[in-house]
Amino acid sequence: MTFSFKPFGPSYSTNLYSILRTLRHEDPVHYVEEDDVWVVTRYADVTRVLREHENFSSAGWNALFAGESLGTKRLTATTTQPEGGFSSLDFENLKFILALDPPAHTQLRRLANKTFTPRRVRVMEESIRSICEDLMAKFVTDSQAGNADIMQNLAHPLPMLVIANILEIPTNRYNDFRRWVDDAKKVVLGIGMDATSIASFQEMYGFLSELTTKRRENPGNDVISLLVSGEDKDQLSHEDVVMFAIILLVAGSETTTSLLANAAAAFMAFPEQGNRVWKDPGLLPDALEEVLRWDSPVQTAPRKTTQEVVLAGKKIPEGAHVVAFIGSANRDETVFPDPDRFDIDRRPEQHIAFGVGAHYCLGAPLARLEAKMAFETFIKQTAGLRPTKDGTRIPGSVFRGWTSLPCEAGEFAITPAQP
Ligand code: HEM
Repeated sequence: MTFSFKPFGPSYSTNLYSILRTLRHEDPVHYVEEDDVWVVTRYADVTRVLREHENFSSAGWNALFAGESLGTKRLTATTTQPEGGFSSLDFENLKFILALDPPAHTQLRRLANKTFTPRRVRVMEESIRSICEDLMAKFVTDSQAGNADIMQNLAHPLPMLVIANILEIPTNRYNDFRRWVDDAKKVVLGIGMDATSIASFQEMYGFLSELTTKRRENPGNDVISLLVSGEDKDQLSHEDVVMFAIILLVAGSETTTSLLANAAAAFMAFPEQGNRVWKDPGLLPDALEEVLRWDSPVQTAPRKTTQEVVLAGKKIPEGAHVVAFIGSANRDETVFPDPDRFDIDRRPEQHIAFGVGAHYCLGAPLARLEAKMAFETFIKQTAGLRPTKDGTRIPGSVFRGWTSLPCEAGEFAITPAQP
């Protein structure tokens, strides 16, 4: 197939899903020569890639960060790679949970599972609700002043404040957090790994390393203390714990930000459905699952082949970079009928927005809770949501979200049915 798709190019914000549909139909395992990467788009193949760690190693994540192959090509195309790249941070030797395969992954995951048990997540409810209420009060004032934006008012601050709360980090470090995560995100989005983002990463590492030492000496009730005290206290090295905290910060904020924004955007784009949710908040959990399917915040997961593998009839060589397109799998017509239609009644139980298999998202219960509580608060305080200006999408196709989403509180803009 002669088809030019650069999965890490910045220009797929509007036509991404139609490109992915073409790929699913015409070339479901598509080799992008320029980036030396294989793009997998059908549900059956994407789930196979994510489940089969013997063939598709999660070291794909490490390679991405370490600037190896795919990363190097992608990053040098857009930026100047700093001397030594991210590998100078010794990424290869850190136990970066996303990038490990069993059995090393199994051991770390067993410990990590303790950090987000349903009981621990339930305990967070009260503080999440109170954060949502504070943010909503500001949203209503900003809306009256005509300058509300879902991103500034809710989607950016909520997940960050929740993670800060979980790690018991003073909220006055919020601006540092924002900067660290923004810089780390640049690397993943491929829009600017530079000396500043490296410096930010090192600053974040230093802060969390110091915090880990303090928690070891004087444990509290937070996630870090859980890993450095009690019966498992010697199972993880200091670096492992710091790295885990970093992953929580990065994986837990940007993704949930996009879920909140994509949900608000979908409710405004389909005001009849938004209005139904506002009138009956019991519909919210199903509506949010449909948002996760229809506009998945994490569109892609990288893997690296451990040996030659045949996938959908294509021979992928050993050591190849594979991009499993979660966002495309969630639009696969063989699993989700009429997949491009946003439908809050769909109940898309098979969606894989949180991944599948051993690396299934650790923070899924927390992300769901945050989104549910945020919109419950919205529903209580407003009659609905209306866009005030066009929003802007984040670039690239690795993540799917928004950089700005101006809107106001008010009845949904439902167009009356034509006679
Ligand atoms: C809507 C929000 C979120 C989405 C869409 C999302 C998506 C994902 C996906 C697709 C994966 C699997 C990646 C792979 O297989 O390579 C993953 C893993 C992970 N997520 Fe999330 N995530 C979200 C929120 C969160 C939150 C709130 C946290 C933590 C506070 C979190 C922490 C993690 C961690 C630690 C992993 C790695 C698990 C492992 O490797 O075993 N995520 N997430």
